[in-house]
Amino acid sequence: MLGGRGRRVHRAGTRARAATLPLPVRAAQTGYNHCVEHEATTADGQMLLGFWYPALQSAQVRGAKFRKTRLLDVPLIVGRNASGQPFALRDSCPHRGMPLSYGRFDGQQLECSYHGWTFDVASGRCTAIPSRTDRDKIRTERIFCAHFPCQEQDGYFWVYLPDPAVRNPELPPPPRLPVFGDRYRLTRLACEMPTTIDHGIIGLMDPAHGPFVHQAWWWRSRRSIHEKEKIFEPVPNGFRIRAHSPSANSAAYKLLGVYGEPVTTQIEFVLPNQRFEQIRCGAKWFSSRATVTPLTSTQCRIDFCAAWNVFRRVPLMVPIFRFFARRFLEQDRRVMEQQAEGLKDHPPLMLIDDADRPAKWYFQLKAALLESRRTGQPMRHPIPGPVTLRWRS
Ligand code: FES
Ligand SMILES: [Fe+2]
Repeated sequence: MLGGRGRRVHRAGTRARAATLPLPVRAAQTGYNHCVEHEATTADGQMLLGFWYPALQSAQVRGAKFRKTRLLDVPLIVGRNASGQPFALRDSCPHRGMPLSYGRFDGQQLECSYHGWTFDVASGRCTAIPSRTDRDKIRTERIFCAHFPCQEQDGYFWVYLPDPAVRNPELPPPPRLPVFGDRYRLTRLACEMPTTIDHGIIGLMDPAHGPFVHQAWWWRSRRSIHEKEKIFEPVPNGFRIRAHSPSANSAAYKLLGVYGEPVTTQIEFVLPNQRFEQIRCGAKWFSSRATVTPLTSTQCRIDFCAAWNVFRRVPLMVPIFRFFARRFLEQDRRVMEQQAEGLKDHPPLMLIDDADRPAKWYFQLKAALLESRRTGQPMRHPIPGPVTLRWRS
């Protein structure tokens, strides 16, 4: 089965057809093929299957209910049954394509609003076809609506969208936000933006836009630009900026000076869409994860989740943090919206060294992953070892 407890994607018989997704799932093409600096690969524009994606925040579904959503252009309903088990179904009846979200849900069974076929939401199995007579040969229990592995973690419903090219994948657990103790505050923010997955991700990892897009007295200004040098190293499916002392031009980091301990920050990117940042200062820490999730080929959502024990006793710390984080996300959203306006005309684009090297690595990682899935060989990591990058920001 493919519900919360399922660890294996079944694809035998009717079930296989139910969970199959079009391949490749392709977003709008990026324009880098015009640029000598970046070799276009078949990975450009592709939305990666075979990963967990955050579909909804847990708090958006109260009790045994579901909500409509969309991931990688797949229409979904995501929710919980009466025993609290999370589920994710394609929002489409296998009979004649009616969105199941119009149907009636009693906490276990979902009844399609068109001809009343009912489905068990945990397994996707059809449990009744009201029009069926004893003379009909069709076997109700052999029919499934497309259903996907779904688990709750860190306050999100995570949905695993299987890659049809990979047979019976062993599912890893959904990603978990690293925390470094039992007592901490946690908050989540989300923001939708009109961007393709590739521009969303490279915007997320872009080290050069800060002084222009995120100008603020508490963060940084254009005048504060200076040269930086950081060591990047490969990690499975991604890369990490080795722990270093954070940017001296940021007032937000300077605040941590009150603890009188050295401050270090470490940033990591992992396919398909996750950026982790950890700031450590003695026993104090801040940990965040931002994911850029493609809802459609031209619309993404950033889910930002942060936990910390710094300034834990400061009153109103959560709303204060949310205020600044929201402003920050809004600045990114606005720039993505404006960039989308320019990209409509498919201009040629460039990726330069060293400031855009993380973006190049992202494309190379994607291509290497797809190649290893195609050939069945281990993935050839594009970053051979530690690399020092220099840029001004
Ligand atoms: S379309 Fe759903 S029962 Fe016919
Ligand atoms: Fe940004």
